[in-house]
Amino acid sequence: MEFKHISVLKDESIAGLNINPDGLYVDCTLGGGGHSLEIVKKLTTGRLICFDKDTDALAFASKKLEEYKDKITFINSNFLNIDTELEALGIDKVDGILADLGVSSYQIDTAERGFSFMHDGRLDMRMDKSQKLDAYYIVNNYSEEELSKIMFLYGEEKNSRQIARKIVKLRESKPIETTFELRDIIVSSYPPKFQGKPHLSNKVFQAIRIEVNNELKDLEIAVEKMLQKLNKFGRLCIITFHPLEDRIVKQSFKLHSTDCLCPPRIPKCICNHHADIKLITRHPTVPTDNELLSNTRSASAKLRIAEKL
Ligand SMILES: C[S@@+](CC[C@H](N)C(=O)[O-])C[C@H]1O[C@@H](n2cnc3c(N)ncnc32)[C@H](O)[C@@H]1O
Repeated sequence: MEFKHISVLKDESIAGLNINPDGLYVDCTLGGGGHSLEIVKKLTTGRLICFDKDTDALAFASKKLEEYKDKITFINSNFLNIDTELEALGIDKVDGILADLGVSSYQIDTAERGFSFMHDGRLDMRMDKSQKLDAYYIVNNYSEEELSKIMFLYGEEKNSRQIARKIVKLRESKPIETTFELRDIIVSSYPPKFQGKPHLSNKVFQAIRIEVNNELKDLEIAVEKMLQKLNKFGRLCIITFHPLEDRIVKQSFKLHSTDCLCPPRIPKCICNHHADIKLITRHPTVPTDNELLSNTRSASAKLRIAEKL
């Protein structure tokens, strides 16, 4: 299977990093290496450290970036470990960090990875293939309440209760094994006028993927670590694809860019909190109409940029 992925908000995020050719940079989400290539092309004596928890991404992108291999360190790890992995390399702080969250088109479009309702494969959805928890386990073992909660919270799925009930009932006679089986259960939980519309299962697939990969909980912790690892004037660029992801980044950036956190009724500051970043983007940058036309998967993307003080 060919590795296909079109980098989202590429020009905007690379410009946002404000790259110094001698600096140290981290790409937390290597994927197809599209953003990494643009970063490394700008480096002279600088260095790029690339993370991905998917070995397929590392295998592909390390070939694509072969020409620049002397300037790159590839790390097969969760970006949640950015602090310990950088320490292991003897690096304290870096000059810029990029995280382009979510899944790559390669992961979605490869049936065996079991991510998509568009391709039939065993329910899987793990970005890290060595991890135990997969979509099969969740769909066949989580309680009706847990399933409904995940679908509602992470997928904003209005039909979450009906879908969870149906999943639990059907798995009593036989495990739900494939993406197409799950897709059909989801769609059949909708009223008759919605039948034959497979894309209705999109939100539930997204919700289960978020749960499999612990995406929101990891992000919440990782953003804090990323900010800590920046040198003065270092930039953090984060591209999100889900409102809950964007909320985590927005709230963390707001907290870190605010001086006093005392409630308004307190006349004099007693918290002594000081901002340690400034916001480069007050409002998130979104794809241009041209990008949206050429890459529909960029539709929900939002880029936020902060600079360390
Ligand atoms: C949207 S793709 C990145 C695409 C890349 N920027 C490009 O231009 O080709 C996201 C990648 O990040 C990886 N990923 C997602 N969450 C991760 C995490 N917590 N730690 C490490 N890698 C992660 C996924 O496996 C996937 O390959």
